[in-house]
Amino acid sequence: MMAQNTQVYPVIWSENAVWLIDQTRLPSEYSLVEIHRCDDMAQAIKTMIVRGAPAIGVAAAYGMYLGAREIDTQDRDYFLTRLEKVAQLLRSTRPTAVNLFWAIARMLKTAYESIGNVQEIKEILLKTAQIINSEDLQTCKEIGKHGLAALPTDPDKLNLLTHCNAGALATAGYGTALGVVRSAWSQGRLTRLYADETRPRLQGAKLTAWECVTEGIPVTVITDGMAAHCMQRKMIDAVVVGADRIAANGDTANKIGTYSLALIAKAHNVPFFVAAPLSTIDFQLATGSEIPIEERDLVEIYQIGQTIITPEGADFYNPAFDVTPADLITAIITEHGAFAPSQLHTQLHEKQLT
Ligand code: MRU
Repeated sequence: MMAQNTQVYPVIWSENAVWLIDQTRLPSEYSLVEIHRCDDMAQAIKTMIVRGAPAIGVAAAYGMYLGAREIDTQDRDYFLTRLEKVAQLLRSTRPTAVNLFWAIARMLKTAYESIGNVQEIKEILLKTAQIINSEDLQTCKEIGKHGLAALPTDPDKLNLLTHCNAGALATAGYGTALGVVRSAWSQGRLTRLYADETRPRLQGAKLTAWECVTEGIPVTVITDGMAAHCMQRKMIDAVVVGADRIAANGDTANKIGTYSLALIAKAHNVPFFVAAPLSTIDFQLATGSEIPIEERDLVEIYQIGQTIITPEGADFYNPAFDVTPADLITAIITEHGAFAPSQLHTQLHEKQLT
């Protein structure tokens, strides 16, 4: 159950339970949480024990199976009605990452389309969750390959900058943006990764840096406000970030702070790449203004560890994501290749439907 070699798998099915790496405890402690019930999976997603768009999709798929397993009936129609409730619970956990909704929809569709009895539907749901898990790992590797081909060729060895954690921890393994970084590193094309700390939850400082250090990838953590300075000093050759939801026109929701990073990159002529699987593209939304933005507990802003850092009387605002307009994005790197935002619809919509 421990991470083998340097491979990190945040969601594992074993011994009839789901095991999650507790991402709220990294980097000081590597521990696993054992999940048997759908309620506990919903809570784990909400509290960010598991986080990152593809990883919560995988976790929700297993959550659907756990919920199905708890439904004690032989009546297929009653089973499906109850399964809809399970889906509702899991959908209510986090609103922005579309992979969550995509995985739940795929699990529901599988259940409805299965011609078997309730027991057989439960078995096929488990298989489907496992397939979603293994497909995502494969997808990330493809993203890594296409990302490497899309990166600038001059200079030969690159300094990359990323925001938040779009690594193995945020996916089934390997990562999207960090998958591109891993590919570059394995091919000798990376000098160093700069990781924004990513206030308020510090996924960059805690998780991205942990993944890099574990694997021996040179990483420098900077505070979010230092990115402009680094670009002005020509320390960064390209930015690569992940995504939580991409609208049909290429507008991209990702961790709060991504938009300002894209503006800074544009101002300094630094290419800005988004790496994400096809399942992150929401062709039902024409533009990014329709993407729901999660607002999280204000304690994330006014407290660090056990210390309250703000004076009494101040107010707070805590949007967890922002939307980067498509015109700031050089290319969106998917498992099918890298595309300009304007090409998404013509190149990928059909593929998502099949
Ligand atoms: O709030 P989080 O930690 O779930 O946000 C994660 C991000 O914003 C990631 O960049 C995104 O989900 C892509 S993960 C491959």
